[in-house]
Amino acid sequence: MSSNDAPDAGPDLSQGVSLADFGAARMLRGHVGEQAVLLARVGDEVLAVGANCTHYGGPLEQGTLEDETVRCPWHHACFSLRTGEALAAPAFDAIPCWKVEQQGDRFFVREQGAAAPQVSRKAGSGEPERIVIIGGGAAGFAAAEMLRRRGWAGQLTMFSSEADPPCDRPNLSKDYLAGNAPEEWIPLRGDDFYTEQRIDLRLSTTVDRIDAAARTVVTSDGAAHRWDKLLIATGAEPVRLPIPGADQPQVFTLRSLADSRAIIARAAQARSAVVLGSGFIGLEVAASLAARKIKTHIVSLDARPLERVLGAELGDFVRALHEQHGEVFHMGASIAAIEPDSVTLSTGEKLAADLVVIGVGVRPRLALAEAAGLKLERGILVDAFLQSSNPDIYAAGDVASWPGGEAGAPIRVEHWVVAERQGQVAAANMLGAREAYRDVPFFWSAHHEVMIRYVGHALAWDEIRVEGSIAARDCAVHYVKGGRTIAVATIGRDVQALEQARLLAGH
Ligand SMILES: Cc1cc2nc3c(=O)[nH]c(=O)nc-3n(C[C@H](O)[C@H](O)[C@H](O)COP(=O)(O)OP(=O)(O)OC[C@H]3O[C@@H](n4cnc5c(N)ncnc54)[C@H](O)[C@@H]3O)c2cc1C
Ligand code: FES
Repeated sequence: MSSNDAPDAGPDLSQGVSLADFGAARMLRGHVGEQAVLLARVGDEVLAVGANCTHYGGPLEQGTLEDETVRCPWHHACFSLRTGEALAAPAFDAIPCWKVEQQGDRFFVREQGAAAPQVSRKAGSGEPERIVIIGGGAAGFAAAEMLRRRGWAGQLTMFSSEADPPCDRPNLSKDYLAGNAPEEWIPLRGDDFYTEQRIDLRLSTTVDRIDAAARTVVTSDGAAHRWDKLLIATGAEPVRLPIPGADQPQVFTLRSLADSRAIIARAAQARSAVVLGSGFIGLEVAASLAARKIKTHIVSLDARPLERVLGAELGDFVRALHEQHGEVFHMGASIAAIEPDSVTLSTGEKLAADLVVIGVGVRPRLALAEAAGLKLERGILVDAFLQSSNPDIYAAGDVASWPGGEAGAPIRVEHWVVAERQGQVAAANMLGAREAYRDVPFFWSAHHEVMIRYVGHALAWDEIRVEGSIAARDCAVHYVKGGRTIAVATIGRDVQALEQARLLAGH
């Protein structure tokens, strides 16, 4: 995924533009030499920043402006137009700021401004000396990065059971698994980052126990590590089913980079695959295996793929889309047994399968929190500040149940951007900021050439209203409860997804 816009698209801003060149828009993409630059009208001012998102290069002029920020249309990263800072994940790097000179009614952009400063602050007297993060995933990484970005200089340790450093997990079922993204895209940061930022990243190290009274975590080698504030970001793990034959080497689940690598290695010799599960991960895996020219079958107990989250209309569309790419669905069925080169379905049907991927959902990893006596409610119960029932212990990401539902009811979701932003907010709060996490949940999912974006949180709805046309891949599907839209899924309407998120947030 990268921006399709040529770097020199739009006017040469070093030659100047006038407000008339914006037309009705508030943003204008241009260039200075080879560099893509975005001009944005903010009140009476015109501000200039880099035009490409630092996450995957999304074209920022196709996003939305809100106050002095711009939001990326692809995965909703938010940047300051004044400083270029990546204020909200999934982008972490700032975009460059450019100087704007006004001469008469024309605006000229010729040189870059100073790089975005870190949000540097002096350590307050109440700040922790030691912070421990359990988990090297989305939330753990984002928290560590934000702690340092905020200028906190204390001792920071991050434990991860994985052998690889924090990685771009969503890509593991998409382009990387399909063979379209090189491995160098996958780490969120290179090894140097952790050294430079003095983040003591302990890979392949599992925390076995939290001793809340002693304020330590105990790792599997028996060592105790002290903390003043602790973040639990242990994520979720794939559900494993007791299917006869599921322990064979051709059977996989997918959570880590190691899992994705192992599936790719097996896929190299596979001609047929069976994916159990028609949720997001199952379908994305199936699409990626089909892209590798492997005959892929999807087996699911559901009547339609994704119906519980997206409803019948989108479910049927997604099924047809995958079928157009050669995948075969076996709905209302499960796998009864897995043999070395085939599977037997609950219907008695036998399917050839050199490779089997079980994608039937995940379970939050709550054992540590439970043993530490933290309050749980389908996840680690936290308040709006992501603080658990122990005020020195925070939780973020797939493990956290936060008051984001109707009337502040706790909800837990499994979304990349939510996990990262919760990590960022938890970091600020561990330093004493008292920032509430109020973002509307957002996720995206890729199905071959079609990208679905979803904002809000609808476990149930009274009716679904389709705006536009699902078949034409230009739609906003509203999930309506009590006469009110509570969530929206879009295809081909990225700006609408951003605007709906703003509306749902009550802005
Ligand atoms: C293949 C795949 C594709 C996805 N695609 C999308 C997508 O397109 N869009 C989207 O919004 N979301 C997607 N998701 C979901 C998203 O990745 C998760 O919501 C997100 O990773 C959650 O972040 P987290 O930090 O809570 O957990 P994780 O990223 O899972 O990180 C948890 C970390 O904790 C570590 N850990 C757990 N227990 C311990 C312990 N006791 N000691 C030490 N370390 C421990 C784990 O090893 C891991 O490093 C996808 C997930 C997967 C697996
Ligand atoms: S490309 Fe901008 S948020 Fe992903």
